[in-house]
Amino acid sequence: MLYPIMTESRMLFDLSGVWAFKTESYEGEGKENRWFDSPLTDPETMPVPASYNDIKVSAALRDYHGTVYYQRPVFISQAMLAERLVLRCAAVTHHAEVYLNGTLVASHKGGFLPFEAEISGAAKKGENLLTIAVSNIVDHSTLPVGEQKVTPSGEKRNVTNFDFFNYAGITRPVKLYTTPKDYICDMTVTSEIDFSTGNAALHYTLDTVGEGETVVEVYDEAGKKVAEAGGKSGVLSIENVRLWQPMNAYLYNIKAVFGEDSYTLPYGVRSVRIDGTRFLINERPFYFKGYGKHEDTYPNGRGLNEAMNVKDLALLRWQGANSFRTSHYPYSEEMMRLCDREGIVVIDEVPAVGLNFRMGGGFFGSQYASTFESPNGVQTAEHHREVIRDLIDRDKNLACVVIWSIANEPDSMGEAAADYFLPLFKLAKELDPQKRPCTLVNVQMISFENEVTKDVCDVICLNRYYGWYECGGDLPSAEKNLRAELEKWSSLGKPIVFTEFGADTVAGFHDATPVMFTEEYQVDYYEMNTRVFDEFPAVQGEQVWNFADFATSQGVVRVQGNKKGLFTRDRKPKMAAHYLRSRWTKIPNFDYKK
Ligand code: GCU
Repeated sequence: MLYPIMTESRMLFDLSGVWAFKTESYEGEGKENRWFDSPLTDPETMPVPASYNDIKVSAALRDYHGTVYYQRPVFISQAMLAERLVLRCAAVTHHAEVYLNGTLVASHKGGFLPFEAEISGAAKKGENLLTIAVSNIVDHSTLPVGEQKVTPSGEKRNVTNFDFFNYAGITRPVKLYTTPKDYICDMTVTSEIDFSTGNAALHYTLDTVGEGETVVEVYDEAGKKVAEAGGKSGVLSIENVRLWQPMNAYLYNIKAVFGEDSYTLPYGVRSVRIDGTRFLINERPFYFKGYGKHEDTYPNGRGLNEAMNVKDLALLRWQGANSFRTSHYPYSEEMMRLCDREGIVVIDEVPAVGLNFRMGGGFFGSQYASTFESPNGVQTAEHHREVIRDLIDRDKNLACVVIWSIANEPDSMGEAAADYFLPLFKLAKELDPQKRPCTLVNVQMISFENEVTKDVCDVICLNRYYGWYECGGDLPSAEKNLRAELEKWSSLGKPIVFTEFGADTVAGFHDATPVMFTEEYQVDYYEMNTRVFDEFPAVQGEQVWNFADFATSQGVVRVQGNKKGLFTRDRKPKMAAHYLRSRWTKIPNFDYKK
């Protein structure tokens, strides 16, 4: 799916702003009274894009369960109606029904990937009424996985089987765009680099609708045309190609013209390959330095915050980092395109989190419920395939994406887990035109012996908390156990990336003899863990948990959220941020572990 842009053949309208907003007083009230047929009565104001949970001074709205309604007028001109007219939602969390003038024009399950619909049939010249109904329910059929419960006070609630606040709403931009009737619906580009000559061949395919002459041109950053080809698929040869490098990006512009339509794709030329325990980018062993992050700011919640995105990447650069994982869901297209522009390396993760009922037992009276076996197991297999398909379709051309993560900390042991996950790896490999490495992020409770995906993971990604959840406050024992486990994983001869390791730390807590939750302990924790990582040639990366403090459900082990951040939620560095800056600025992006 192409990112919506304005071109000489395409108009683009961003519907961001303050919309009308209304919650239901009972489940189904909006649909029963057809709120989408006319202006909402007694609406509140609500910004789009943003999560709605933190926007008002209301615990009821913060903890809301069910469907809310957003609405705004949209003026459509004759010129727009003369073209193909598309409504595109970049993300609506978690389930959306989109109405134009009372007609359902789109519905979508999944809160982190775009969907669109042609609306020419439902649109009229002049004022139109756009209504989006948004449900925040998470259960055994959704990704992320949750549970429904009724509180003693009779309130319905989402119980999240994941450690981040269940922010919801229209979290990324809603846009209208036009194309000619005969148009380009997608572009796929892969690179073939000849490192001996310094030349590259870009293999492209255009998916089109209708008829038209096709010309594809490549421009360098100075605007000079460096290659040209005709036809809906072909090869664009670039001499002395400038490669996209980590922290040193270079993006060509690939301009496709099909009949009256044109679309320009920013594209970085780079290669990704695994060689034994080495993770090669452009044939050089890369070392991942960075974070698990969240899309989490106040009061935007999970909503797009481009100012903070740019700030976060500036802090990443300041720290000498070079990568992050989109934990635990696809991030905005704006952040992904920014990473392409800034040369940040990304592990791209589908929203498959919470697929694990071993953590603290099941949901049924804390009896263990098998994650994948009915009747109480998850029913997510089809939706899991859907989100893999949609994520790869959205991000397939991005240079910054080097690994697909199929799930975070699932219950990946036993036959049922193998039956569930192994086909998903096969699907991802089939779908990705660039055939990138795939992984599944292993949780500490699933041992080396029990991990059913370790033979299909191209990169071993481990979330480990030695010195926090295990041997908390006892770093010498934690060190011993970490080293022992790493011996096992190293035997696979594959690259190992620590995708999470961290310690809850309340900014401002200090002690000359460090204890848990103090900034000094967080530094000691990271010093111990990274010292052990450095002993193992197979360890090719360290991504801390987390970049910044973030919001979670309330609980006795969450101090107004998760405090494992290197930075506070408003991006102020804790001592460990300075410690890791001193470490990471001394570690090169390449050749750290040859
Ligand atoms: C897990 C999980 C994170 C969570 C972290 C923690 O590893 O992947 O989502 O926030 O543990 O407990 O801090």
